[in-house]
Amino acid sequence: MRIADIYTEGINKGKEFGVLSADLRVLLAHNEGFAEPIDVLLRRDEEVKKPDLFWEQFEELRKGKPVEYIVNEASFLNRKLYVDERVLIPRTETEELVATITERITDYYDPRNYLVVADIGTGSGAIAIALKSYFRNWILLASDISEGALEVANKNISKGVATITTMQGDALTPYIEKKINLDIIVSNPPYITNPDETQDSVKDYEPSTALWLDKNNSVYEKIFRDCYKVKKEGLLMCFEIGYDLEEYLTELMAKYLHDYEFEFLEDLNGKKRFLFVYLQ
Ligand SMILES: C[S@@+](CC[C@H](N)C(=O)[O-])C[C@H]1O[C@@H](n2cnc3c(N)ncnc32)[C@H](O)[C@@H]1O
Repeated sequence: MRIADIYTEGINKGKEFGVLSADLRVLLAHNEGFAEPIDVLLRRDEEVKKPDLFWEQFEELRKGKPVEYIVNEASFLNRKLYVDERVLIPRTETEELVATITERITDYYDPRNYLVVADIGTGSGAIAIALKSYFRNWILLASDISEGALEVANKNISKGVATITTMQGDALTPYIEKKINLDIIVSNPPYITNPDETQDSVKDYEPSTALWLDKNNSVYEKIFRDCYKVKKEGLLMCFEIGYDLEEYLTELMAKYLHDYEFEFLEDLNGKKRFLFVYLQ
């Protein structure tokens, strides 16, 4: 059977279940050992090597499993990361967060300095790995409360050449315990407040510790509460946030911070999805 035939059959069978043709290309490219999903179209006349595996995976896709968890791979800023159900699949908004940091950093620091940077709730390690690749002189630390997530982060970190130190613990606790002082905190913590607005495939497959904002146990609040314990001369905090959190976060900052400047920044869809706070 040709790749074109199995691909077309997959599209037809998947239509009523909302299976995306882009996801079928990811499956086929992965199974056939192609570099990119577009190769499925370019090499459509070749014989399929693993048709049975394709149909097994098709069943998982049909039930709603994200394709990234099926092939154990996600793209983040042109890098391929290992992912499984212990970590959130990195999102394009988080790529925007990293891009915004690279654009804005000179407003706060000379990026040629040896800045000490923590990625809190690192998950797959996406943010820490990307930042370290752009700013090789920065000292990157990455932490997560989930042991499973840290195993995934370490797997991704070990594929690169750069050193990133990982630590397990709640919000800033590992840094406070180890007396580590920071120039920058980056965090994409759990921030979803409304399960009704969340896709079933996210609720069913992505780790709940990565998703839901519990305002009685909020990573944002813990970071604001403890940030003076880890602050160097200044401290820049860059967060990804839920679109509905501006008021909540403004109140938290007023409660815990003094001598600070802040800015809510919009994503490409015009929603306030990032918060940069600088402590003097
Ligand atoms: C939204 S995910 C972000 C993962 C990754 N940084 C990214 O951007 O793709 C949030 C991460 O925060 C971690 N987390 C949740 N509560 C935490 C806490 N109290 N302290 C540290 N990490 C926490 C979760 O385990 C999860 O990996």
